[in-house]
Amino acid sequence: MAKKPKFQSPTGMRDILPEDQRYFQRIYDAVSNIADFYGFGKIDTPILEETELFSKGIGLATDIVKKQMYSLKTKGGTFLSLRPEWTAPIVRAYIENGMQNWSQPVKLWYFGSCYRYERQQAGRYRQFWQFGFEVLGEASPVIDAQIIQIFYNILKELKLKKLIVEVNSIGDSQCRPYYKKLLASYLKTRESSLCVDCRRRLRENVLRVLDCKEEKCQPIKTDAPQILDHLCEECHKHFKEVLEFLDEIGIPYNLNPYLVRGLDYYTKTVFEIFTETVKEEKKSQSALAGGGRYDKLVKLLGGRDVPACGAAAGIERIINLMKTQEIKFQKETEAQVFLAQLGNLAKRKSLRLLENFRKARIKAVESFGKDSLKAQLNRANRIGAEYTIILGQKEALEGSVIIKDMKTGKQETVKLDKAVEEMKKKLKK
Ligand code: HAM
Repeated sequence: MAKKPKFQSPTGMRDILPEDQRYFQRIYDAVSNIADFYGFGKIDTPILEETELFSKGIGLATDIVKKQMYSLKTKGGTFLSLRPEWTAPIVRAYIENGMQNWSQPVKLWYFGSCYRYERQQAGRYRQFWQFGFEVLGEASPVIDAQIIQIFYNILKELKLKKLIVEVNSIGDSQCRPYYKKLLASYLKTRESSLCVDCRRRLRENVLRVLDCKEEKCQPIKTDAPQILDHLCEECHKHFKEVLEFLDEIGIPYNLNPYLVRGLDYYTKTVFEIFTETVKEEKKSQSALAGGGRYDKLVKLLGGRDVPACGAAAGIERIINLMKTQEIKFQKETEAQVFLAQLGNLAKRKSLRLLENFRKARIKAVESFGKDSLKAQLNRANRIGAEYTIILGQKEALEGSVIIKDMKTGKQETVKLDKAVEEMKKKLKK
């Protein structure tokens, strides 16, 4: 076995090599196009935030806050954490930057890394990338449906197959406390049959029992009271309308009464998107996207009582799926024109020619290092260049170039100082 290098990337964190950058770029393009279309503005927030923003926003009893944050104390004595997610930072930015006074709703999107000290598993990384969409300042259920639609459309646009949206409502401060009591008293009578984690959840965060994937807890879950039967009138109406909107726009969904999400800020609608092929026990590490409404978070973090809704998707998980589903996307042409040259004089002249192509915004690539014409033409083919410009010794002396159409193989000679013009014509620039 090869010896391990002395230095390796930290566990759960990876380099993103050029091959994967193509996937990232493809996803970024799809996300930013859709964001533009639906009128979302891009936001970036610092990678570090005050730890309390997350403990308050996401919830002290959540796995993220209890076990997964990368936290540090600065030299000045402030406690900061690497963002494990973007929603709390965006709400902080919304309040801090006076966005409450902008015309509402404020629609924001983001694309960047997150950090969670997770157990190493397929699909779970400690540094991972998310893109997300948040709508602040609008209570209408049409927004919930639109957020689901945006994520569904992006995943479709990326050609992912067999997508399935799971939705649920977890109520609000009117109805959820009563339901939690009901669930807890039901579970208490069966406590001895629950797994160790669920016994803890029963005391700390009872809704999370519904999310348990342990086999021994499944029959207990099946017979448990369901929140959808205990929603207050307002939550019931809201959820019904969300589902009607989804029907209207033709998004297929499953009602999943066990979907509760791992962050405490949600109210009413919650959803996750999977591919149909995921097995039940692998679900916690394979959701492609997840989110929902969080009507109380802005107020909780010190702002006005502003309703909000949003979601985020895991970029590595999407890329893994694109690879397993063997989704090919057209390789972006690395070059429209390839500059092949032979000999020193030609090399010097092609250097200037390359600059002129750059100024004319023609994507040109050279290979100054290689001397065999055959090797250079092979490379031109590999990167999908439409034309190759050949500057041999003879041409360099005469001040001309050969333009070779890589599709037809046809060649013509033109003057060196007309080469850029000629290419502009051919490429219709
Ligand atoms: P989340 O469900 O924790 O929600 O994460 C959203 C997505 O990020 C997941 O569905 C998954 O694809 C990806 N993800 C999460 N953890 C990991 C990990 N350790 N490794 C790889 N991918 C991961 C949130 O973060 C909420 N902020 C979403 C939201 C936005 N809710 C409202 N607005």
